[in-house]
Amino acid sequence: MLERFTFHDIDSAYDSFLRHSGLRECVLLQTCNRVELFGFGNRDDLEKIKKTWASVSGLEENAFKENLEVSEGTEAYQHLLKLTSGLDSLVVGEEQILGQIKESMNAARQLKASGSALNTLFEKAIRVGTRVRQATGISKGSISIGSMAVKLAEENIDDLKSKRILLIGTGEAASLVAKSLKKRGIDFGVTSRTFERSKSFADTAGGNPVKFEKAIANFKLVDVLFVATVAPYFLVTYDRVKEAMESRKNGMMIMDLSNPRTVDEKVSTIKKIKMMNLDQIAEMVDKNMRTRMGVVSSAEKIINEELPVMEAAMKRLEVEPIVKNVFKEIDQARVKELKKALQMLGEKDEQKIRIIDQLTQAIVEDIISVPMNNLRRASEQGDSEILKTVTKLFDYKTKE
Ligand SMILES: NC(=O)c1ccc[n+]([C@@H]2O[C@H](COP(=O)([O-])OP(=O)(O)OC[C@H]3O[C@@H](n4cnc5c(N)ncnc54)[C@H](OP(=O)(O)O)[C@@H]3O)[C@@H](O)[C@H]2O)c1
Repeated sequence: MLERFTFHDIDSAYDSFLRHSGLRECVLLQTCNRVELFGFGNRDDLEKIKKTWASVSGLEENAFKENLEVSEGTEAYQHLLKLTSGLDSLVVGEEQILGQIKESMNAARQLKASGSALNTLFEKAIRVGTRVRQATGISKGSISIGSMAVKLAEENIDDLKSKRILLIGTGEAASLVAKSLKKRGIDFGVTSRTFERSKSFADTAGGNPVKFEKAIANFKLVDVLFVATVAPYFLVTYDRVKEAMESRKNGMMIMDLSNPRTVDEKVSTIKKIKMMNLDQIAEMVDKNMRTRMGVVSSAEKIINEELPVMEAAMKRLEVEPIVKNVFKEIDQARVKELKKALQMLGEKDEQKIRIIDQLTQAIVEDIISVPMNNLRRASEQGDSEILKTVTKLFDYKTKE
């Protein structure tokens, strides 16, 4: 399902959202557990946003009915803070998500898809995420999906070190498994479609490279199989495993870390096969995490402290264009009148001109600073009425 919502061409997705969805800014975040769109614009544009998303990902619009969650304002800020703090991750406290959010932010910034609103929001959220991690130690000792898979294999199989282990996949998830196996001094084979990739993976992450076709055809020689690929079909099929099991006495353990799955679920029905998929591994990670609940509640406490600060900063952003505009228009009037007065005086003395200029600037600032600062404060406190009044008073036209 996640795959169907994924944006395969990020640049053109950004282009479409900015052109057709009504959003003024947006940031796309996609990882193996989520596809999210952060937008800044009008809430009335939700239907246009869905339409654009549907056309970008080739989806039918009704796909959104059961699969889309929408949050706005404070709820959305809170969600982003939970994300950067690692509270919404499959493995609570994991570090990867913070890096992924930074990358998404940078990409949006480079493409000029994000502007002052989302840049401010994400910068603050990243800062809070970093603070939560430093203050609570939530990331320390957090167990990755990869190391949990290895731990579960260790718990289910006697003397894992002596077993024949194969890892299919050479990406990020596979490297988490490899790291954990290597740390325990366990030998393993690694394979992926391109042999060169398996070789360079083995050089950096460990393991012995094995040719893909050979590996896939020889499950009979494997005691523990870890699979972490993005293949859009079952790599480990029922027939292959059934055949392999017919020519061996011992059982086999299969850990499928892929989402969507790349091991056919039916394989688990074969005699002497122990199998776990990503959901089951994640559940174990979650259980492990619950023992660290104290850390989670400290993280939530920080988020609750930071949330109003973030809200105030975002509300202040709403008022900044008006404040800027008021200052600009008044200053233009000041400069115009100053020029007129200097012409009438026929004043040429540079020092006197500077003094008169500074005098007019000081008067303008004295008069306008207090109401503008009050406007900022009122806006931070969510007083939208005052914003409307000032917009009317100063004849400010909002850009839609
Ligand atoms: N990254 C994580 O932290 C994480 C955590 C939990 C679960 N997962 C899941 O783990 C899986 C892998 O994620 P990843 O982040 O490691 O992805 P990745 O870094 O993009 O690596 C993808 C791997 O899949 C292989 N692959 C791609 N197409 C294939 C095909 N048609 N047949 C066989 N192999 C193919 C690639 O190698 P070749 O192209 O050389 O074959 C590569 O080894 C995904 O299903 C993901 O949902 C990832």
